[in-house]
Amino acid sequence: MLLGQLFLQRIHIPHCSSTNNFLKDMLQEDQNDGDLSGLFVTTDYQTAGRGYGENTWYSSRGKNLLISILASSISIPPEFQFHISRLISLALTDVLEDILPANCEIRIKWPNDVYVNKKKIAGILIESSILGDRIQQSVLGIGFNVHEDPFPASLPMATSLKQLSSQNFDKEDILRMVTAKIGNRNCSSLSELQRLHHEYDRKLFGIDIEMPFRDENGAFKGIITGSDTQGMLNVKTSGEDRKYGFKEIEFIHP
Ligand code: BTN
Repeated sequence: MLLGQLFLQRIHIPHCSSTNNFLKDMLQEDQNDGDLSGLFVTTDYQTAGRGYGENTWYSSRGKNLLISILASSISIPPEFQFHISRLISLALTDVLEDILPANCEIRIKWPNDVYVNKKKIAGILIESSILGDRIQQSVLGIGFNVHEDPFPASLPMATSLKQLSSQNFDKEDILRMVTAKIGNRNCSSLSELQRLHHEYDRKLFGIDIEMPFRDENGAFKGIITGSDTQGMLNVKTSGEDRKYGFKEIEFIHP
C-alpha cells in the first residue's frame, strides 16, 4: 500500500480551526504516534480552513465534507511525493464519476483541485514532513463541497454536488465513498506509479487544448502537455516547452 494503512480510526469534532491543524496538533502532542496510525478527522465547521499558500477554504456549518487523513507509513520516496496528490485527486474524481451524470466534465485542475464543468468542487491540502530519505508522515486534507448552495458572491468559480445534481446527499455516504476510493487507489504498488501519473495527466483540466495563461512575463497562449515526476506543469508555447511550479503560472479564465 502506497500510503500505509488508512482509515483505522476516526475522530469527529463539531468544530475546529482546521482539521489539518487539529491532526498536526495531535501529532505534536503525541510524538510516539503509534496509536494515531490510520487516524482521520472530520468536522462540521472550520473557523480557519486553509488551502495552499495564503488561500482559505470556505465551508458553511454542516454543509460539506472536511477531512484530514493521517498517512504515517508511506512507501513513496520524498522525490516522488507529488504522487500522493495524484492519488488523492484521482480518488476524488472516482467518487464524482460514480455520482454525477456522464455528461459532467470531471477534471483535475493542476496541481490538485477537482473541477466539474469548469468549477471547483474539491480542494486538497497535503502537508508532509520528511525525515532523511523518507516521508515521515503526511496530513491529507480534503474539502469536498456537498450541500453548499449558494456560494458567497466572492466564490463564483465554486460548485457542489447539490448544485450539480439538484439532489440532497447523505454526507456520511459520500464520506464512505471517499474513503473507499482512496483505499482502492492506495492498493496500487510502487510499480504502478507510472500508470497513476498517466491517468492524472489525462484528467488534467485543459490538457492538449490551447488556453490563455499568465506567468511572471505576462499573458500568453499555451497548451498543457502533462506534468513531470516532481509535479511541475509542462506547457508548450510557440514551440517552446516550459515547466512551471506551484504559483508560477495562472490560468486565465475566459
Ligand atoms: C485548496 O484548495 O487550496 C485546498 C483546500 C483544502 C481544504 C481542506 S478542508 C479540510 C482540511 N482542513 C483545512 O484547513 N484544509 C483542508
